[in-house]
Amino acid sequence: MTFNPLRERGIPLDKQLRNWRELNVTPIDPDHADPYTRCRIIAMNGIEVEAVMFSHQMARHCPDTEIKQQLARVRYIEAQQQKAVNWLLPGLASVLETTLAYEQVAVDLTAWVARMEPDPYLQQAYQFGVLEDFDHLYRYANLYEMIEHRKAEKVVDGLTEVMPGRPTYLHHRDPVDNVREPYDRTSAAPLSKLHALTILAAEQQTMNFYMNVGPEYMEPIARQLYQEIGLIEEEHVTHYESLVDPGETWWEMLLNHEYNECYLYHSFMETETDPKVKAIWELHLNMELEHLRLAAELFKKHDGRDPEEVAAPELPAPVTFEPNKAYLRDLIATQIDYTTLGTGYVQEAHERFEKMQEALMGGEKAPSERVIEENRAKSGEEYRLETEGPHPVGSLRLDR
Ligand SMILES: [Fe+2]
Ligand SMILES: [Fe+2]
Ligand SMILES: [Fe+2]
Ligand SMILES: [Fe+2]
Repeated sequence: MTFNPLRERGIPLDKQLRNWRELNVTPIDPDHADPYTRCRIIAMNGIEVEAVMFSHQMARHCPDTEIKQQLARVRYIEAQQQKAVNWLLPGLASVLETTLAYEQVAVDLTAWVARMEPDPYLQQAYQFGVLEDFDHLYRYANLYEMIEHRKAEKVVDGLTEVMPGRPTYLHHRDPVDNVREPYDRTSAAPLSKLHALTILAAEQQTMNFYMNVGPEYMEPIARQLYQEIGLIEEEHVTHYESLVDPGETWWEMLLNHEYNECYLYHSFMETETDPKVKAIWELHLNMELEHLRLAAELFKKHDGRDPEEVAAPELPAPVTFEPNKAYLRDLIATQIDYTTLGTGYVQEAHERFEKMQEALMGGEKAPSERVIEENRAKSGEEYRLETEGPHPVGSLRLDR
């Protein structure tokens, strides 16, 4: 069954506005919801936030009032979609519980994308990044046990393992080394463009989230850990956004954004287990088909090209949230000691990396190291969730 979103009809734009009652969605059940339903909600919120922010950026560069007005109309709907999606989250979760879910999204979404990415250079970028968010999950899980006296399995539900990845303090690289080479828009597979947009949107919303919630905790170690990991999410946004070809025109970027929204709503509609949430994915897909049609019209008119030249002729296989345990263990065993140098990867700590580390640490241990020590002291042992056996790296096993 093929689905070409460029040939489908959606809901006309003037029928897309929702009133308060329609926007007042029923949140998922915090105790019984599928953790991957929560992951889909968080991922989709990141996509809608990117849709809104991208449209604002485009409008700020657009001298034509009529086009600006059309952007504003579609953007208002994107803003309503963002509200409907993110308000599916139940109000009961603490900031740290939401944080654990954000890192679970980063781990299982990036691992899926790495597995499906056809371009080896891009695939390496995802494999590199995922080992870092994997470690963030472990650091936050220890903070969670220490200050909320709860275990992260309550949130991740055994679907994602919690144990050390590439140690967080080693993620602080010289900013120069966070910039990757972009794909070539004329030869890259359409799927590669969608992957890059998806992961940069997810990382961007994590960065924004930590920027804002980090100071909501009173405990010094919590405040410090959010500062530390918040700075790494800045590095991750730099890393992933630099994969996108900067030679794309605004019209092409808009087209890719709308196409990606169609792709993800379609994916989540196909894989959703909660019928009420699935109905929202379906409704939003039908809105996005119209956004895509409007973007395709602009692209044809102002870029003078056929949208089918740049977008995939049919939707790729659905983006799926599922456990990636064996894949991640294999990456941990082989790539844990990687860092970046220029736009490539190396296994040894080079001079620029050492200099950055020295300047940032200021002779002290990073909060991400201290949180483990403090939790060991407080809870008797550090928190881990190793469901598939001992840690793949001997020196990182608990019984070493
Ligand atoms: Fe949208
Ligand atoms: Fe992270
Ligand atoms: Fe990240
Ligand atoms: Fe859209």
